[in-house]
Order: sequence, then structure tokens, then C-alpha cells
Amino acid sequence: MAMIQSARRAAGTAALTTRLFSMGPIASHSTALSAAGPARMASTTAAAVEPVQGGSFNVAPPASDKEEKKKEHEKAAAASYWGVAPTRVFKEDGTQWQWSCFRPWDTYAADVSIDLTRHHEPATFGDRAARQAVKTMRWAADAFFQRRYGCRAMMLETVAAVPGMVAGMVLHLRSLRRFEHSGGWIRALLEEAENERMHLMTFMEVAKPKWYERALVITIQGVFFNAYFLGYLLSPKFAHRVVGYLEEEAVHSYTEFLRDIDAGSIDNVPAPAIAVDYWRLPPGATLRDVVVVVRADEAHHRDVNHYASDIYHQRHALREVAAPIGYH
Ligand SMILES: [Fe+2]
Ligand SMILES: [Fe+2]
Repeated sequence: MAMIQSARRAAGTAALTTRLFSMGPIASHSTALSAAGPARMASTTAAAVEPVQGGSFNVAPPASDKEEKKKEHEKAAAASYWGVAPTRVFKEDGTQWQWSCFRPWDTYAADVSIDLTRHHEPATFGDRAARQAVKTMRWAADAFFQRRYGCRAMMLETVAAVPGMVAGMVLHLRSLRRFEHSGGWIRALLEEAENERMHLMTFMEVAKPKWYERALVITIQGVFFNAYFLGYLLSPKFAHRVVGYLEEEAVHSYTEFLRDIDAGSIDNVPAPAIAVDYWRLPPGATLRDVVVVVRADEAHHRDVNHYASDIYHQRHALREVAAPIGYH
């Protein structure tokens, strides 16, 4: 059922992409570009925009823009030497797609109908150890962040984006080493890592990290990456179970986040532009809408990782079961 939904979602994405967007080299759209700038800024703190006729927007170039333009020109010249022109994507209304870190076909409307309460009851010693490990991490996060959920979300995402990349890398290398297919799991896990990284890019707009938080991220990443890598080599079943429980905690944290927004202790500010485009949120979307879709993503990650652990538990390899690609 989930796979059918994924396929439908992918088909819907493709159709929407064809309908709304076109793509081509810069040169063929230079005229349109000069007439219409991006509809939304790349960051909520980006330069000011000037409204022009027809309700669209045009960017007013800052006076000190010359150097930037020169650099861009040099970059374009280097790219064209190799015949690799940076592609730019345009919407149907002629405005340019402003994000280079993700494209229209990467965007989706989150499935917020997913059951948020599902929980894997620990059944084995490994399950209980995984649950305890996550409880300990949660205790540390509670002690450090308390109810500063913006900061907490941002820091959580710096960790949450690691397992998918590590697992995808290990499976990639295994596929090469053993001359065998992956069942789509490499892609599914890398998609999860990318999705988590988009959560981070979003929360960066809401909570700016301080220097000591950045230092903490570097330290935690150094420890967690290596621990998870080793753990995945020794027992992928255990590693996926840990992530399954981590995602259960993430769902809980975002529910608390929503509670604080609803209680008024966290300002329900406008959604960052990057989130509006990535999750196809309606105009006027707020931080609350963002937290709701991020929480739905975490619930999908929970299911995928518990599912992967269950596959190992049933003494199968992941490659024997088609991966849930596009499931988020
Ligand atoms: Fe996340
Ligand atoms: Fe997640």
C-alpha cells in the first residue's frame, strides 16, 4: 500500500513538474530573466525586493554587486569551457526557480495523515539496548536544551541526517564489493539523509546557531558518525532500530514544539521561504505548518528504519525487499 502511495506521489510530482516548470540553459532564458526576477528570496534575511507591475517582484541589485557579478561571470566562463552550463529552472510564469540545493521535482506535499503514535515495543535484548541508548540521548538533549525547541530541532537534525548517509554508503560499498543489487535501499537511505538535511536548512532560518552550538555539532558529529558507522558494520539490525527509536523521539519532540507554539510561548512566525517551496506549503504558511510536515517526515523515517530492522530480524538482507523510495 505504501509503495502504491509512493508511486502515485512520484507520478504526481512528475506531472506537477511538467506542468509548472521548464528547464534550460541560462542563455536561452536570459531575456525572460532580465524581465522577471525570483518571486521569493533565497533567505528570509536576503536583500530587499521591489514590487513591479503585475504583482511579481524584481530584485534591486545592491550597489556593491559588481564584484559578485564578475565572479559569477568567471565561474560561467569556466563552466562553459567544459561544456557544462549550470542549468536553471523556470516556472511557467517565467520566474526563475531560486533554489539550487533542491529542484521542483524534489519537492512534495507531506503525508500528514501518517499515524504518529506507532511504537515498536522492544522484543529482544538488542531492541531494549537500542531503546535505552536513545533514552539516554534524549535525557542529555532534555538537560541541555530544556524547552528551547527551535535550537533543539536544529541540533537534532545535524545528528539525524547522519545515519541515512552512513547506511547508504555502507550498502553502496557492499554492492560494489559483492557485485550485487541493493534493492533500492541505497537510494532510499540517501533520500532520508537529504530530507533530514532539508529539515536542518529550514530550522537554520528560524534558529541561528551560536558559536558554542557549532562547536558542539562538530564534536557530536565526530563521535556519532564513527559510532554509527561501526555499529552499522557490526549490526545493521541494531543500527536501524536505534534510528527507529530516535525518530519516535523526534516525533515526540516536534509534538512538544507544536504544543509550545499553540500555547504562545514560541512565536508562530512566517514559514521560511525554503520550507514553503520544499513542502509546497500554501502562501501565508507559518512555523506551525512547517513543524507539522517535519513531524510527518520523522514518522515516515521511524517506519522505514523499524521496517529495515525487522527485515534483518527476519533473517533477510535489505536487497531482497524492494526499498520504499520516495517514502517521506
Ligand atoms: Fe528531521
Ligand atoms: Fe527523521
